[in-house]
Amino acid sequence: MLQTGWKQANMPFDLHSILQPWMAQLAAYHVDQPTGMIKLDANENSCPHDPEFVESLGPLLKEVALNRYPDPAATRLTGEISRAWGVPRECIVLGNGSDEFIPLMTAAFGRPRKPGKDRGCMLYPTPTFSMFRIGTIGFGCEVLEVPLDRRWQLDEAAIHGALDEHQPNVCYFATPNNPTGALFDEQVITRVIERGESLVVVDEAYADFSGASWLDRLERWPNLVEFRTFSKIGFAALRLGVMMAPPAVAHEIHKVRGPYNIGGLTQAIALHALRRPESWRKGIELIRRERQRLDAELRRFSQLEVFPSDANFILCRVRTGGPELFEALKSRRILIRNLHSPGVMENLVRITVGVESENTRLLEALAEILSAT
Ligand SMILES: Cc1ncc(COP(=O)(O)O)c(C=O)c1O
Repeated sequence: MLQTGWKQANMPFDLHSILQPWMAQLAAYHVDQPTGMIKLDANENSCPHDPEFVESLGPLLKEVALNRYPDPAATRLTGEISRAWGVPRECIVLGNGSDEFIPLMTAAFGRPRKPGKDRGCMLYPTPTFSMFRIGTIGFGCEVLEVPLDRRWQLDEAAIHGALDEHQPNVCYFATPNNPTGALFDEQVITRVIERGESLVVVDEAYADFSGASWLDRLERWPNLVEFRTFSKIGFAALRLGVMMAPPAVAHEIHKVRGPYNIGGLTQAIALHALRRPESWRKGIELIRRERQRLDAELRRFSQLEVFPSDANFILCRVRTGGPELFEALKSRRILIRNLHSPGVMENLVRITVGVESENTRLLEALAEILSAT
C-alpha cells in the first residue's frame, strides 16, 4: 500500500518476473516491539547497565568521527577480541549481529555439490534458530532439516543418514540450542566434524550462560567455525557478532561482507566493554542464578512441562494451551514467545529469564492464570 500523497506512474511492472522462486517460501522475521511491558520474549539480557558504565561511554562519542566511515577492519576491536579469547586475528570476522553470517556462509559456500542439483544445501536440526532457514533459503541454497529426538537432542543416525544422502555444504548446531535451551552432545557434533565433508558451525550465542565452549578446540579442525554474539550478554543494541573460523574460511567471508558492516559507535563501545568485563559479567551471573530459581518455581505448576536450560531462557509446554497462556500474560503486560504450531511445537512457549523483579511478577501472573484453569 502506498503512503497517502504518493503518486505512481500508471505503468505495468512485473516484479514477479525477477523475484527468486524460493522467496515464496519465506516470511519476514517478525518481532513485537511493545512499550511498557515486561519483555521476556527475545532472549536479551534484561539487566540494565550500571550508571557508572553508561556514564563512561559519553567520551566515546567525541572519539568517533561521525562524518567518516568506520574502520572496515575494526582493527582495535578485532585485536581486543583476539587477545581476550585467545584466537588469532586472521580467524576473526565481525558481523552486524551473528545472524549476518548465515547469508554470508550461503553466498560463499553454497556451491551445488550433488550431481543433478543446481543449489547447495545446509543442514540443521529442528526446532532451532529460525535465521538458519531464512539465511539459507533466502540466499539461494536448500535446507536439510533433521528433527531433534524426543529429549531435544541430536538424532545422530538421522544426521549421518542425511549427510550420506545429501552432502550438505554447511551444518549448523546452535548449542545451547534456541528454543530448546539445552547443550547438544559434543561427541555427536565431533563425529560430524570428523567426517571432514562439510563446514560445521557451532553457534554459541548462549555460551556465557552454559559455561561450555568450543573455543579451545577451534584450532583442531579445518572445518570448524564458531559464532558468538554480544547480543545476549547485555549489548543487543550494538548488533555485533563474532565469527571465529580457520583463516581460509574467514578469508572468503571477508570477500562477501559489507566493508563497513560494523558501525563506528559499535566498534568503540564494544572495545570499551571488553576492557571492563566486570561491568557486564555480573549481569550474566545474575541471570544464571535467576534461571535456577525460575526453573524450580516453574516446575511447581502442574500445567507446565519445563525443559532444562543451559541458556538465558526456559522452554515450557503448557498442558492447558500455550497460545492461551501467552495471551493471558500479554493482557497482564508480560510478553513471552508463543511458539505454538501443530506437531512437536504444540503449546510451547519460551520465556526469557528476566531480572528478579520481572521473574517474580511473571510467577505471580502465572499463579493467577493457572490456578483459574
Ligand atoms: C542461536 C542464536 N544465534 C544467534 C542469534 C542472534 O544473534 P545476533 O543478535 O548476534 O544476530 C540468536 C538470537 O536469538 C540465537 O538464538
